[in-house]
Amino acid sequence: MTIRRFDGRVAVVTGSGRANGLGAAIATHLAAEGATIVVSDLDGDVDGVSGSIVAEGGKASAFACDVSDRDQVRALAAHAVECHGRLDIWVNNAGVGNIMKPLLEVSVDDWKRVIDVNLTGTFFGLQAAAEILVRQAEGGRIINIASQAAKSGFPFAQAYCSSKHGLVGLVRSAAIELGKHGITVNNVCPNHVTTGLGAWQNEYFAGMTGRTVEQYLADMAARIPMGRPGSSRDTALAVAFLASDEAHYITAESLNVSGGEEPH
Ligand SMILES: NC(=O)c1ccc[n+]([C@@H]2O[C@H](COP(=O)([O-])OP(=O)(O)OC[C@H]3O[C@@H](n4cnc5c(N)ncnc54)[C@H](O)[C@@H]3O)[C@@H](O)[C@H]2O)c1
Repeated sequence: MTIRRFDGRVAVVTGSGRANGLGAAIATHLAAEGATIVVSDLDGDVDGVSGSIVAEGGKASAFACDVSDRDQVRALAAHAVECHGRLDIWVNNAGVGNIMKPLLEVSVDDWKRVIDVNLTGTFFGLQAAAEILVRQAEGGRIINIASQAAKSGFPFAQAYCSSKHGLVGLVRSAAIELGKHGITVNNVCPNHVTTGLGAWQNEYFAGMTGRTVEQYLADMAARIPMGRPGSSRDTALAVAFLASDEAHYITAESLNVSGGEEPH
């Protein structure tokens, strides 16, 4: 029997328009538990995932939004309320992870693009969601998809690691202000998931370290206590928990979903 913890609730998931991405897995899981989902992504990517949620009997709409543009993010939040009547859960999942270079080759544009989407875009989402949730005065959940790169450093990923570390400070600050409104603010920190941008990173890291992708993945599995890289389902389950009533006293956290790879 499927648990339905989110009947009557409305959730926005940014960056959820790619079929194999973490955002699509999160959106699909929340929908299966009863939530009405706003699937959002860059132009041209939004209709497929919302269409498949509806085809499975769920409720969803699609709304294109570049999270690095504050006006577009506010329009996304307004769409959730206009189209579905309310907002309960906001998942900041959109992210850029395929701009990876040795330190000395990173340009100003490389740096800004990653920070603008991963850190500033998450801030815009958090702010737009909080404005509605505070007004509704019924509490709410804001969840960011950070990363293991929010806790540890990785080579060739200076802006990515900085953006994700920045999310740890962002939830700690926002949670203090929003607690009195019954709104929790947390990060989920997955380790390496082999779909989505993780698939691109496999190729990049394997090439940079002189290994095949298969060798690279085998080495990764060997160092993870649970014996495998993460899956999109692992992340979706953690998001669903933090979005649920059971997690009502958990806020300001950055929850590792890493099979034990990330210990702090
Ligand atoms: N795959 C992994 O190994 C892994 C691990 C830890 C954290 N993450 C994080 O999970 C999130 C999802 O990543 P994924 O692995 O599913 O990769 P992905 O590339 O499939 O998903 C990222 C999504 O964000 C969207 N996006 C990019 N820029 C955007 C913008 N400006 N506005 C709106 N949407 C935008 C993309 O179109 C894409 O659909 C990211 O925040 C990523 O940093 C991924």
